[in-house]
Parts: sequence; structure tokens; C-alpha cells
Amino acid sequence: MARRKKIYEGKAKILYEGPEPGTIVQYFKDDATAFNAQKKDVIEGKGVLNNRLSEFFMTGLNNIGVPTHFLKRLNMREQLVRSCEIIPLEVIVRNFAAGSLAKRLGLEEGTPLPRPIVEYCYKDDKLGDPLVTEEHIAAFGWASQQDMDDILSLALRVNDYLSGLMYGVGIRLVDFKIEIGRVYDGDFQRLVVADEISPDSCRLWDLQTGQKLDKDVFRRDLGSLTDAYTEVAERLGVMPKQA
Ligand code: C5P
Repeated sequence: MARRKKIYEGKAKILYEGPEPGTIVQYFKDDATAFNAQKKDVIEGKGVLNNRLSEFFMTGLNNIGVPTHFLKRLNMREQLVRSCEIIPLEVIVRNFAAGSLAKRLGLEEGTPLPRPIVEYCYKDDKLGDPLVTEEHIAAFGWASQQDMDDILSLALRVNDYLSGLMYGVGIRLVDFKIEIGRVYDGDFQRLVVADEISPDSCRLWDLQTGQKLDKDVFRRDLGSLTDAYTEVAERLGVMPKQA
């Protein structure tokens, strides 16, 4: 049997060449990392949960007309996605103060923000993904002004969709990060939501109790990460409820 060609291995995923040109197989690992990989562990079952959850969110986005790279889930740990050129930015949307924003501006975690705040970080592990402004993005040519308009629109649509979805199951979407890719259709370029959307890249708090149901459980040693992610998956009906 021919071995698949590995294209890239990241902290939480491996990308393989897909079966058809223009496709990629995205494999979800169980590895958890935080603080730019200074804290590491293997959390059994995390990859399976994130594969299912990302499928769920990306399918929903595709269905409401927000384009993503997602094509279909292949098995427990793998999904088929369209290959795209990743724009080297982490696009963060925040509804409530938490994490680095709370620290940077001296805000109490959980403070509602006057409007969703969109931030951009330059994707570079060695530099720890530093915060950048649109000035840097334009000056270094990472994205055009048209791209930035489209990225902002995509980010806010994802925020509205995810916030509503989560609210429906008693969860507050505090913030999240997405990545954006370019796909080419002939002479035309389109931007799509790429990478993954999962509790690894969101802050999700129970609406009633404030309990954290996201990667902060791992970052801050707050208990079982799989229990937290399973809770999210069960509430959304992505995984059957355990008896
Ligand atoms: O750490 P910070 O508060 O800036 O993170 C904001 C949001 O972006 C959080 O939901 C976090 O999980 C996500 N994030 C991410 N990957 C990064 C940085 C932040 O998924 N490299």
C-alpha cells in the first residue's frame, strides 16, 4: 500500500495530501499544547472530539453561506478539506474580556465588550504569534485591503453564528480564533474559513455557572479537558449523551 504524503505537522494536526488534486486530509492529534508549546500533554480522545466538533461548526457555516475549506469527515480523526493558501494571520474575535485582552488592558475576565473586537496576530510560533495592526498587514503585504474587508466580514459572520449556536445550548462564546485561506477558482480568489473551529480555539463558558468548557481547562489545570469538550459535544448533539 502506498504511503500518504505528509505535507505538514503542526501542534494539534497533521496534513496529508488528499485523494484528489486540490484536497488535503486533516488528521486531528490528541496532543494538547499551551503557552506556545511550553506546556504539553497527550489528552486521549481530544482529536476525535475536535474532528467531530469542527465538522459540525464548518458544516453549519457552509450551510448558511459562510464559505469554509471543509468538504467531509472521513473517519474518527480525519476530514477532507480543500487545500488553500493560509493567510499568515490568526483572526481573533472577542465578545467578553478574557485571556490576553484582559491582561493587556487590565480588564476583569468576563467584562462584556461594547462591541465585538477583532484582533489580528501574525502567525509565527517562534515569535509567539504577536499582535499586529492593519498597518503591519498592509505594509508587509500579508493581505490586501479587499482581503481585510472580507476577513472582517467573515469573522463577524462566524461570531454571530457561533454565539447564537452556543447560546442555544447554554454556553457563552467569550472569544475565538479562526484562520483564513485563499482558494483559487480559475482567475478568481475566494477567502474561506480554514484550519479548525473547536474548543481548542474558543473560550466557552457555561452561561449559568461560568464553568470553562474550553482549552483554558488545560492551560489553567482546571480538571478534565475531555470531560469539558464532551460536554460541549453532547449539548450540541454532536455526540450522543452518555448514560
Ligand atoms: O490568548 P488570547 O486571549 O489572545 O486568546 C484569544 C482566543 O484565541 C482564545 O479563544 C484562544 O483559545 C484563541 N487562540 C488560539 N490560538 C492562538 C492564540 C489564541 O486558538 N495561537
